[in-house]
Amino acid sequence: MPTLDWIGKKAVVNHHREVPYRLVHCDGELSAGDPDAGNLLVQGDNLEALKALLPYYAGKVKCIYIDPPYNTGNEGWVYNDNVASPEIKAWLGKVVGKEAEDLSRHDKWLCMMYPRLRLLREFLREDGVLFASIDANEIANFQLVLEDVFSGCSQIAIPVVNNMKGRNDREYISTCHEYLVMVAKTDFVSHGLPLSQQQKARFKHVDEEGYRYELRDLRKRGGADTRQERPQLWFPVYKHPETNELSLKPRDGWIEIWPMKKDGTEGCWRWGKSRVEKYLSSLIPSYARANDKWNLSYRIYLDVDREESLFEDDPEDYSEDYDDETGEAIERTTKPKSFWWGPELSTDNAGKQLKDIFDGRKPFDYPKPISLVQKIMHMIGDEEALILDSFAGSGTTGQAVLDLNKKDGGNRRFILVEMDEKIASEITAKRLRRVINGYDKGGDPGKPVEGLGGGFRYCRLGTPLFNEFGDIDEAVSFPDLAAHVFFSETGAPLPKKVDGSTPLIGQHKDKIVYLLFSPAEQGFPREAAGNVLTPDALASLPSAPEGFDGERVVYAEGCTVSPERLKAEGVVFKQIPYQIEGA
Ligand SMILES: C[S@@+](CC[C@H](N)C(=O)[O-])C[C@H]1O[C@@H](n2cnc3c(N)ncnc32)[C@H](O)[C@@H]1O
Repeated sequence: MPTLDWIGKKAVVNHHREVPYRLVHCDGELSAGDPDAGNLLVQGDNLEALKALLPYYAGKVKCIYIDPPYNTGNEGWVYNDNVASPEIKAWLGKVVGKEAEDLSRHDKWLCMMYPRLRLLREFLREDGVLFASIDANEIANFQLVLEDVFSGCSQIAIPVVNNMKGRNDREYISTCHEYLVMVAKTDFVSHGLPLSQQQKARFKHVDEEGYRYELRDLRKRGGADTRQERPQLWFPVYKHPETNELSLKPRDGWIEIWPMKKDGTEGCWRWGKSRVEKYLSSLIPSYARANDKWNLSYRIYLDVDREESLFEDDPEDYSEDYDDETGEAIERTTKPKSFWWGPELSTDNAGKQLKDIFDGRKPFDYPKPISLVQKIMHMIGDEEALILDSFAGSGTTGQAVLDLNKKDGGNRRFILVEMDEKIASEITAKRLRRVINGYDKGGDPGKPVEGLGGGFRYCRLGTPLFNEFGDIDEAVSFPDLAAHVFFSETGAPLPKKVDGSTPLIGQHKDKIVYLLFSPAEQGFPREAAGNVLTPDALASLPSAPEGFDGERVVYAEGCTVSPERLKAEGVVFKQIPYQIEGA
């Protein structure tokens, strides 16, 4: 298996483990709408932000969409598209050390991306998927680095036409596309996309009960399938010379219809003989004067229920989307193609969408179009999905989520991370605030746009949980430490938020985790503060549920219970902060 190497790789492969866990503080002034809507915008370097969020969201994210710097070499945009912002430069110097001076621009980009991708992987559910926008500058390296981080996951690079005219400044070929790389974890199931207006317009026929349908050739038109390759799909159907009655048995004077290709060579039908026989009465013969040939068509209905009442399974191309819980077909959709194109996906369109929100000004270079992110959300299907974008920029992902929720009544939530303080507060947060509350299109009071509702919390990163000596920082509260302890013990986020009223913080599989901790108070004796596992504290721990025979793990600053008693009670003591992994 080929692997990717670069200068600085050794320094970053395990770096995500060394990144400290930090506190996250919310700023009500920059937040908007319903604070409990479950949406977050975190300002900070995503390496630290992701690490801080991990104890709360590990394994919970259905979809990650990222649009990282493409490494075009452009440093003059609102953000730095080279890996050369002051924050990242300083970070590289610190993490990679002296070697950092020799890094090429590709090395730097890879050093920046690797530990961030490692953390992103931890957030994904088993049925989750990561999408990343990228262009020709780093696509080759990116695909290899993804293979390294997500080994064994399926990967597809979808070309996305984002500039219909093509770029004039390219040396050999006028570039008009970039890529959307998709990495699907083991259990991801792709849902179909809603039909476009153009696709819907194809259902132009109306049946006797008023249902719209389109006609599809029963004869396979494209592909290499021939009579020789698929002999079972090569057979005649007989048609009455005057009526449209059909038969599979030869009859005197009836017209023979064969599955000929357009060029007159022998092709094959889409359906086998038994299916043709079953639905013979629904097939529609038609005559083509141009080549003096008869052909057969079948109906595809816009309404899936109508189609189901006539046929037992799906025709090709169009598929149905299913309700995850009931398994019922809900909507006719179309399978996403490996090439994305359309005016709604262009950078120009994205720029206009943003200008409309910012009073006709252009606040950000190269935002992504909302339709791109919504197309992804249609593919993931889940209307309750948690969506993470750790290179948030102007906040397109946030708006796409709010907008789609409003349209289909979904309850998707987002987590956005943006490093640049000015962008996060003056562009990302402002955009979200405006679309939540409503705004005047292009700044024109005559064109009010209704708010989408919802809300988000604006957060900043605080101090690390543990100081340079490994002690718990004074600012750490019980819920902060509980989330961290639980995650480091079980690898899972806390099932529900705790407030410190009980030392039992949660159960995961065969482990129950307790925490004895009261945040530092000046001059308070430790034991009185309840931070020590004493025989009395042990006796008063909330008991395990009936029949539980797993491990009860108690985190506390000290322990005065004998090892024999602990063993007899099935309790494992772990000392904070030293035995908290990652401290
Ligand atoms: C290409 S833009 C994303 C644009 C976004 N998709 C949109 O539609 O507006 C990349 C963004 O990532 C931010 N960024 C770069 N490095 C980052 C990091 N380490 N942590 C968080 N954000 C970062 C940049 O400041 C920039 O705003």
